[in-house]
Amino acid sequence: MSKSLEEVFGEASAHIIEPTTFVRAVLSGRRRNMQTDCERIDLRPVSIKGTVQLQLSHSDGRATTTKNIEPDLFTVSELLNSGYAHILVEHIDGSLSIRITKSGEAQVHYESKEFKQSLDHDKKKARLLDSSDPFLLEVGIADHKGSIKPSKNDKYLQVEEFLRLLVPTLEAAISAGQIHKPTDAKPLTIVDLGCGHAYLTFATHQYLRAIGIPVQVTGIDVRTSSRDRNNKIAQNLGISETINFRAEEIASTTAQTADVAIALHACDTATDDAIAWAVSAQSKLMLIAPCCHHDIQRQMNESPEPWGALTKFGLMKERLGDLLTDSLRAQLLRIAGYRVEVIEFIGGEHTPRNMMIRAVKTDAKAEAIDIQRYRDICAQWGITPALEKKLPRLNIG
Ligand SMILES: C[S@@+](CC[C@H](N)C(=O)[O-])C[C@H]1O[C@@H](n2cnc3c(N)ncnc32)[C@H](O)[C@@H]1O
Repeated sequence: MSKSLEEVFGEASAHIIEPTTFVRAVLSGRRRNMQTDCERIDLRPVSIKGTVQLQLSHSDGRATTTKNIEPDLFTVSELLNSGYAHILVEHIDGSLSIRITKSGEAQVHYESKEFKQSLDHDKKKARLLDSSDPFLLEVGIADHKGSIKPSKNDKYLQVEEFLRLLVPTLEAAISAGQIHKPTDAKPLTIVDLGCGHAYLTFATHQYLRAIGIPVQVTGIDVRTSSRDRNNKIAQNLGISETINFRAEEIASTTAQTADVAIALHACDTATDDAIAWAVSAQSKLMLIAPCCHHDIQRQMNESPEPWGALTKFGLMKERLGDLLTDSLRAQLLRIAGYRVEVIEFIGGEHTPRNMMIRAVKTDAKAEAIDIQRYRDICAQWGITPALEKKLPRLNIG
């Protein structure tokens, strides 16, 4: 449904300032040609000394800062109009999901559903994955007492934060009609590329099912030992009808399509294989957290001046190589018709590989400037990214 911005912001603000029915709101993404102060803002009502205030949590992808304000219409309307492209508002009887298109139109989706309001002030970040869930024991993240093993805590948090980004993106894509509404007859299909011990694969399966999203999940890893171990775990958990594993190279996998492609730390150019697979499989959504980068670094033999001032330091050359790799991947995805964001999905203390490429297929035609920038960067550095070679149909050359 398309409405004027003023109308939808008015409607959303009215829900947000209503102390007895407002549950939460999330502002994320960026409107075309607008800058936002931070990556995401979460709003929720909190009870402080008997009055209901609005708690605003600003997140820049690294840290979250929280402040409480009086819920007034003017401030909330200003906030909604501060450059965010996705606005989700939940109230006790349903939700309102707004997507602002490139042309500045507001597309609104309403859902009737019961949400529970909590005015708890010092709310701890709720865990998505219950540490006593049997799958965490089976995959080796939790021990028999249902406690997360200290050696696996970082992986557990990475998987949780990955899900925290996957779920709202998925819900927004379903609301916007970019992904069909999953049903038992037509579940959401997800492929995890380079799944390894399948912590993320199982977590995605279990969590999405727990929130009522029927799924069919496939994990791909070149190692037969991973496939055998993971299929055995699926059998032990009684879920092998909806999750399965294959021992295959990503580049030659027999998996044909998936609505959603995910990859967490697939090594070096395996990340490029994962992205290329998702593009040719026409995946609607991909969340890819790259791992080590060697491909471009190996090609950075001569720096175009004045970049020699930076690349003469090995450490900086390496970091620049990482940045070039991921920005060229993002650029290629834009050219392939995806809306792309590059975000930090978890604090650097849990993994130095904490960048994520999140892409939603919009089929928007590539802008000439995007192609030109891509070509210019490659020409200046004398590099050809592995991903370009894996996407010959893009015809960049
Ligand atoms: C660093 S591990 C990450 C595993 C898992 N995604 C996680 O985050 O725990 C990378 C995995 O990718 C797999 N892998 C690397 N290259 C691959 C390729 N070309 N095709 C399939 N799997 C690959 C490896 O066998 C390994 O299990």
